[in-house]
Amino acid sequence: MPTTTSSSSWSDVPLPVSVGGHLEQVSDAQMQAYADLIYRRTGIHVSPQKKTLLSNRLRRRLRNTGIESFEDYFKHLKKLSPSDPEWDAFLQEITTHETYLFRDEAQWDWFRKSFLPDFVSHVQDAHLPKRLRVWSAACSTGDEAITVAACVASAIPNVSAWKIEIVGTDIGVGAVEQARSAVFGERAMRLVPKDLQQKYFQMAKDAKIWQAKPEIKAMTTFRQHNLMEPLRERPFDITFLKNVLIYFDATSKRKVLDNVKALVAPGGLLVAGAAEGVSDLLKDFVRIQPWLYQRPE
Ligand SMILES: C[S@@+](CC[C@H](N)C(=O)[O-])C[C@H]1O[C@@H](n2cnc3c(N)ncnc32)[C@H](O)[C@@H]1O
Repeated sequence: MPTTTSSSSWSDVPLPVSVGGHLEQVSDAQMQAYADLIYRRTGIHVSPQKKTLLSNRLRRRLRNTGIESFEDYFKHLKKLSPSDPEWDAFLQEITTHETYLFRDEAQWDWFRKSFLPDFVSHVQDAHLPKRLRVWSAACSTGDEAITVAACVASAIPNVSAWKIEIVGTDIGVGAVEQARSAVFGERAMRLVPKDLQQKYFQMAKDAKIWQAKPEIKAMTTFRQHNLMEPLRERPFDITFLKNVLIYFDATSKRKVLDNVKALVAPGGLLVAGAAEGVSDLLKDFVRIQPWLYQRPE
């Protein structure tokens, strides 16, 4: 966790110098103040070694906003609400949105060929309502949620008789807007099995862009949400929480997992990234795989 200092007030921070039209790097005190602000608002830990990276990213924001110094930009940033487009643009600069459909193929094989058929049998045998709720937490541009929808459509017989609710959430407003469009480039589509691509996506004319078909889109909803805060939703049968915990320190990780665990239904599952080291924080869940945990009934 970044040490909290009084440096979130910039009064003692020297103004950055302009060298040949380029601003110098943020000072150590400025770095600390930005890191504190990011940590307080998002739980994301930015290490002091990222000074060059942060400086480069900040320069882009200065160019775009016309604000002249790191100090003035910080003052401006501090006043913005999480839904402000400039806060979001800043957030986009400091987070990675890397994602693609069917990322971690072994997990999707398990989801399609094991989890979904077992879930359907369980619902039928126990005469439960035909209903499945899935959370794609930190969904970025929606690739994971749309992957869930394509798997569900292909693996659940007579899926139109089911109530399928796939909720994608991300802290990035822009990411969520893009997710709602359900449009993907060729790179994002590269691991989609060909039969599913043909059935559930259509290629936009004259562009190497794929659009999820309406029946796939209709299973999903997307909303902005910070994982450091509880999500107001009913429990989910299965939650995907992948490739996001890496941004957090131990304290934030615990908070995020507490928020996520609170919405795993009894007997429900949590899918984590393959190497995210969550087992210590999931001791109250049953470990089925290093990336798969079940909440006891
Ligand atoms: C690398 S992407 C992972 C996308 C997807 N889960 C996957 O595995 O392909 C990480 C996402 O985490 C989001 N994120 C970072 N901090 C967050 C927070 N505090 N709350 C919610 N989302 C956050 C970022 O905006 C980014 O879209």
